[in-house]
Amino acid sequence: MHIAVFSTKPYDRHFLDAANQEAGAPHQLTYLEPRLSRETAVLAKGADAVCVFVNDAAGEAVLEALHAQGVRMLALRCAGFNNVDLAAARRLALPVGRVPAYSPEAVAEHTVAMIMALNRNIHRAHARVREGNFALDGLLGFDMKGRSVGVVGTGRIGAAFARIMRGFGCRVLAFDPAPDAELGLDYVPLEKLLAEADIVSLHCPLNPATHHLIDEAAIARMKRGVMLINTSRGAIVDTRAAIKGLKSGAIGHLGLDVYEEEADLFFEDLSGQVIHDDVFARLLTFPNVLVTAHQAFFTEEA
Ligand code: NAI
Repeated sequence: MHIAVFSTKPYDRHFLDAANQEAGAPHQLTYLEPRLSRETAVLAKGADAVCVFVNDAAGEAVLEALHAQGVRMLALRCAGFNNVDLAAARRLALPVGRVPAYSPEAVAEHTVAMIMALNRNIHRAHARVREGNFALDGLLGFDMKGRSVGVVGTGRIGAAFARIMRGFGCRVLAFDPAPDAELGLDYVPLEKLLAEADIVSLHCPLNPATHHLIDEAAIARMKRGVMLINTSRGAIVDTRAAIKGLKSGAIGHLGLDVYEEEADLFFEDLSGQVIHDDVFARLLTFPNVLVTAHQAFFTEEA
């Protein structure tokens, strides 16, 4: 099969080439650096399938353009599929494949890394020590044992995350519209989770029901000084409301591996450029905010 791979990075090429070789090289892979969009869809001309990642746009117009060029399958190398118009794909009889589970632990463990870094101020301590500043003032953390952790979405990643948090001796509260009784979790309504959790971690997919699930009203329901972690999809959190919460102290720590407008920023080296997104730039000014650029999935195993 001839596959056009959009948004290619060196690591994609490394792992996809290896997988193709291992299978006896049945596929011809064409690596493309641009993101898939209405403008770049033409680059897939001649391909039977198109392989995309999280910030490639597979809306109706793009799917129609791909289909008209002869593309007969869309393969996502990610778990979330909020960037694909599934109704349009169905209408075009274009199968869409995704990765149902590529190491849920990769994301769950990165979530824990963010929690612990924020809690113990590792990001600030690292910078201080490098500057020869060995003072501890301002680095005070808290014991995880006995804290309440709210898990929003207990699918593969949320379940893995809950398992680790239990190991820390935390009280785990869970919310999911489709609870999994086998996990033995304490499922509560979302309102109760928000009201009682010291740490709220988001592991639900982005869809119309979860868009801005964490907005000003939700933040107002949370414990003052709550730690909010989003490693799922950016638009589940209303970033402007989160900034307001940080300024008022309603949010005590914020950890983001994803951001609403990440498509214009993440996965690129922009260190020599001016960042035009003022909302994102504001986020980076808080000492109690930790941002990673959608790297939770990025392990060898995943
Ligand atoms: P999953 O499909 O196994 O689990 C999702 C869970 O969310 C399901 O149990 C579902 O019932 C629940 N859910 C649906 N609507 C909800 C709502 N309104 N409130 C609370 N829960 C709700 O998916 P998985 O593999 O656990 O992945 C979760 C999300 O993590 C993906 O959709 C993706 O957006 C994100 N992700 C992020 C990565 C990263 O690198 N940062 C990598 C992989 C996934």
